Formats: sequence, C-alpha cells, structure tokens
Amino acid sequence: MDETMFGRALSELRGSMPRITAASAESGRLIVVSNRVAPIEEGQPTAGGLAAGVLDALREKGGLWIGWSGDIADGGSRLQPERQKGRVRLQTLDLAQPDYDAYYRGFANSALWPVLHYRSALARFSRADYAGYQRVNGMFATAVAAKLEPDDVVWVHDYHLFGLAAALREAGASNRLGIFLHTPFPAPAVFMTLPVHSDLARSLCQYDLIGFQTEPDRRAFEDYILREADGHIMPGRALMAFGRVVRTGVYPIGVQAEEIRRQAEPLADCAQMSRLRASIGASRLIISVDRLDYSKGLAERFLAYERFLEANEERRGSVTFLQIAPPSRSDVESYREIRVGLEREAGRINGRFSELDWTPVRYLNKGFARQTLMPMFARADVGLVTPMRDGMNLVAKEYVAAQDPRDPGVLVLSQFAGAACELKSALLVNPHDPDEVAEALEQALSMSLDERRERHAEMMTALRRNSLSAWRDRFLADLGARR
Ligand code: F6P
Repeated sequence: MDETMFGRALSELRGSMPRITAASAESGRLIVVSNRVAPIEEGQPTAGGLAAGVLDALREKGGLWIGWSGDIADGGSRLQPERQKGRVRLQTLDLAQPDYDAYYRGFANSALWPVLHYRSALARFSRADYAGYQRVNGMFATAVAAKLEPDDVVWVHDYHLFGLAAALREAGASNRLGIFLHTPFPAPAVFMTLPVHSDLARSLCQYDLIGFQTEPDRRAFEDYILREADGHIMPGRALMAFGRVVRTGVYPIGVQAEEIRRQAEPLADCAQMSRLRASIGASRLIISVDRLDYSKGLAERFLAYERFLEANEERRGSVTFLQIAPPSRSDVESYREIRVGLEREAGRINGRFSELDWTPVRYLNKGFARQTLMPMFARADVGLVTPMRDGMNLVAKEYVAAQDPRDPGVLVLSQFAGAACELKSALLVNPHDPDEVAEALEQALSMSLDERRERHAEMMTALRRNSLSAWRDRFLADLGARR
C-alpha cells in the first residue's frame, strides 16, 4: 500500500479537524457522503432511490452532501468550491485519473463489487488499487473534516467508502458515523477471498452503525465478525470487535409509491409510450430494466425467455420482451464483455424466432427518464426482475408501485434480490434455472385477475410499510440515538 500518500492525506486531515467534544443528542447537522451526488434542481423530481431519500433528508434538516463530481481532473484530485442549492450544501471532489482508476474502476468495482455479489471468480485484486481506494477515502475524510462540527452526524453510503470512518477516527473525530450498505454482504467464506478482508472489517467497525438491506446480509457480517474477527455479540444488535462496539441494523430501502403511481398514470400523454403502444399493439409485454451489470443476470434471463418461447409455441407472435439496459462502468473489462455477449444473444434469439411482423426481443442499450419508465411499467403485463444477487433492487418495487391496482401486472422476482425478503407475493424464482423462470413467465401471463389483484395488494402493503422515508428516518433515528 502507498503508505506515504495515505499518511499525507491523514496528516492533512489531522490539521484540518475541528476540536471534537462528546457528541450530544439529536441536534447535530447532517452530513451525507456518497460516491455520487444527485444533480439537484429545486422543485424538480429527482432520479429516485438513494438520491430521493437522501435529498429529502437534507432538505428537511438542512445539511451538506459530499461526493465525487463525476469528473476527472487534469493534474491532481481536488475539491470544488461548495455550492448552495436551497437548504442543501453540495461539496464535490474531482478525481485525478490515477485516483479514479485505482479507487473506482479498480478496487471498488473490480474487486469489492464482485465479491459482495458472490462473484469472487471475477474479482481482480491489486495492492496498488487498494492503496488508491484508501487514499481516496482519506480525501473524502479530509473534505468531511474541514466542515465537521462536534455534534454533526455523518451518514456514509455504500461500498466505495468502507475506509472513511477509520480515517476520521484516526484524526480524532468522535462524531456519530453511520454507513448504509446498498449492496449485499456475502457469506464469510466469500468475503474472505478478498486479501484485505480483515482490514476492511476493521475499518467498518470504526462506524457506530452499519445498516444492511436485509437480515441475511446483517447476519453474514455478524458471522464474519464472530468467527473470523474474534468478536462478541452485545445487547441491542451490537457487536464488540477490534476494540469497539458497533451497532448493526436492517433498513430495507423503499420507494415513494404514491409518486410513482402518479408518474405512471398519464399513459396517453407520453410520446414515448404512444410509440411503444403503436409498435406492439395488443401484444403482451414483459419488461426488464437494469444497469448493464453481470450481477443483474441478463444473459441467464435471455436464455430463460428463449426456453419460454420454445415451450409455449402459441405465445409466439403475441408477446414482446423489452429489455432496457443502459451501459454502466464500461471502462471495466468484465462489463465490456457482458455487453458483447448480450448483443450476440439478443441477435441469436431474434434470428431464431422473428417473423416479418414480430420481433420477440427488444434490447435497448440506453436509459429512459422515470417519467417515461413508470408508464411503461404500468403497461407491462410482467415485470421480470431476475438478478443473480442484488442488495435490494428498486426496479422490482417501482414496477409494483406503478401498477393500476384494478388490473395489475405480475412481478417475477429472483429469490436472490433483497426485495424478495419483502415482496413474498411475487412469483419468486431461482435465476440459475431457466426452465423455472420460463414457467413463471407462463404462470404470470395466464394468471387470473383476482389472483393478480390479491398478490399486488399484498406487495403494496409491504411497500407502504418500508417506504423511502421510513428507511431514512429509521436509519437516522438509530444513528442519532444516544449510545
Ligand atoms: O447498488 C449499488 C450502487 O451504488 C447503486 O446505489 C447505484 O445504482 C449503482 O451502484 C451505481 O453504480 P455506478 O455509480 O458505478 O454507476
């Protein structure tokens, strides 16, 4: 590891730290740190998910959001001047190419991401990348420290920033620091394939609260701490490890169901929807929307759809599978490979089954605005969401929320998506079995209206229970509570 650079980041950090006193009650300001920050325009709807939840919290309480600007800087990494957007202050960091390569493209997305998604065989670990990851975590810590006041509460997001609390603690911060992991946390044996697993776990234990999407994720982390880090269970879902007490909790991220339904309703007014309707006519529609990522199980899903067409000859010509897959992380090798493979598969299936007036697969390599996607979800008879592993999968929840309760579509959902812990009335499938997914597709397309309504109502109850605001409020309440 590049000790000098990390050391330099830390000593800068020490110099810039305010005097820290014991954290008081719930009065502190909120500082959010995440790799990406959402573009903020007052009064405009946000991109959804994390962005919407975090932004609402910041708007209500007022506060600061720190993250990567999305830009690569010529020369060294550097902080942009702080900007004020309504009650929210934004502080972004431009990353120099070597920092971006080692931190984002390297350790975070070529080593940690595959391991967290149970794909150790795809992980490409290098010590230099890990040093870069720590270095950039140190830079984020420096940015936080420069603004930190004694009562501030810091809410960190995701796998890019496991090392942030450790850097802040080393500099003397005793503030309440919490991290929410949006991805799965794998079984200990899988996590241990990362050569720096112990260092990462030690860093995580510098937080006061670690939030997970599901109980199996939380338990996997607890198992690791108990069995591999010599830790102990303490009262209140807390763990004692590496000389600290850290609380853990389960906070399934949710959606704003009412807003989604509103966006989904004006089917006729949307130009893109009119084009879709004109081109598919009365055809039954199966929809999938995913970032182009191997964890999403796209190749396996294409195969399952092919099995469905083989097994249900009478459906040919009257069903369309629409796969929307905007490219993602395309400068990482494994992501380039998946794109090539999927283009080949879509072409092969279409070549095999297409007729003059029917194309079975529509594969679109681009993204759509939420205002367009939600009406598409409402029109689709089936939402096909079959990741091989996923922290939560908000598309599954958005598909359910977008449905007309009087005539809802059916969700076919992977048992390995975090959402499956809540959406038990979906048709749950194992994405490793293409025949099972094909059968679920046929079951979904032939399901009675009564059964569709019943399943949809049950899933809506779950969505309302774990709304986006409940996720945010519960995490912040637990983080803010006195220890
Ligand atoms: O699932 C984890 C996550 O950080 C999501 O919050 C987000 O949708 C996605 O990964 C973003 O990927 P990237 O920032 O690499 O484009």
